[in-house]
Amino acid sequence: MSTPPFSYNKSQALFERANKVIPNGIAGHFNPSVQKPAGSYPFYCAQAKGSRFQDVDGNEFIDLMCAYGPMILGYGNSVVDDAFSKQVAIADTCTLASPVMVELAEYLVDLVPMADWATFAKNGADATNMAVLVARAATGRIKTIAIDEGYHGASPWMQSIERSGIGPDDHANVIRIPWNDIAAVEQALADNANNVAAFISSPYHHPVYKDNVLPDEGYWTKVHTLLKQHGVVSICDDVRTGFRIDMKGSSEYFGYKPDLVCFCKALANGYPVSALVGADSLKEAASSTFQTGSFWFSAGPMAAALACLKELNRINAPSLVLETGKKLTDGLIDIARDHGHELIVSGMPSMPYLRTEHETGIEFHQALCGECTRRGVFMASHHNLFISTALSDTDVQRIWDIFGDVLTSLSATS
Ligand SMILES: Cc1ncc(COP(=O)(O)O)c(C=O)c1O
Repeated sequence: MSTPPFSYNKSQALFERANKVIPNGIAGHFNPSVQKPAGSYPFYCAQAKGSRFQDVDGNEFIDLMCAYGPMILGYGNSVVDDAFSKQVAIADTCTLASPVMVELAEYLVDLVPMADWATFAKNGADATNMAVLVARAATGRIKTIAIDEGYHGASPWMQSIERSGIGPDDHANVIRIPWNDIAAVEQALADNANNVAAFISSPYHHPVYKDNVLPDEGYWTKVHTLLKQHGVVSICDDVRTGFRIDMKGSSEYFGYKPDLVCFCKALANGYPVSALVGADSLKEAASSTFQTGSFWFSAGPMAAALACLKELNRINAPSLVLETGKKLTDGLIDIARDHGHELIVSGMPSMPYLRTEHETGIEFHQALCGECTRRGVFMASHHNLFISTALSDTDVQRIWDIFGDVLTSLSATS
């Protein structure tokens, strides 16, 4: 093995301190029950630039998670960071909104064909919550159809019912149906006649721990015909996919026109802002809903979003990340095959989900991703990866080299 495995002594020490004052030490994906095998992943970042970050122990990683999506242009992108700094020097969180909010709304309305208006918040869940509220206000109905294992944020109605603190009441108005199943859409609409406000879904299905699945031919057209017949609002949750497939929104790529689209992660290359954009027919309903948050007028992230969108557009970022992702994963498939393994890659190449054959359980894949991480390629085993425009050919070659080395060492130990 050309690269010795990293040690995480400082990360571990900090995590132990954190555990005393922060529930679970770190929330979310870094809960030790997710990042397996134990000891494979660091916990704290010291610095980040371009396609790479360093942890507090000084280990350097090529980052295939991009902060779980936001860092589409890589860390410390000067175009976006300069726009943010300039705006913050003038005004950031202020009693009044800043003109940049209007500029950003105008830019999004010009960019995204289905959008006639835009409104802003902080997190993806703010946007999906707002979208559902607007749909309810517009229809006077209460229920939302969502896809089994489709993720739309951490609000109680969106979380899995098995999770701690979530009860049946939270899900009383959510109807879950399987992905790519037109008969299930039909059935859900028939069973809840005149009571469904919204159908919310990502443009393709990207659950965790499972192969990601693109829409079947004609799926979105058929869904939309049904939604129109039943007067149901179509919400595209483009929080994860947004600007990684098509600058006009991922629904354009898949050939359908939702009534509302939620953007977040890649919108501002790491600065906290999300957007809900909508069709004119829902503008009045959107105006009637109550929307606010302590930092929702914060102008720095809006300036960052405007600069980010212009930069993504200028370099045609979706095609770059799709191309890099395809090249990277084609190479990984070949390397895995040379080592006697089938690597299955699903979803769009700009956010590919990888899994090695799971017949004997997920442990081999977890070990593979964990060992790659311990040698400098940061990748999760349970979640799709994210490709940034900062990922260079040198990075891709290094990822292939480490991946091959790890497969050799895992074969030798199994
Ligand atoms: C598709 C999708 N929708 C909504 C969200 C929620 O976004 P946030 O975590 O910013 O609230 C996420 C987050 O991962 C997501 O992937």
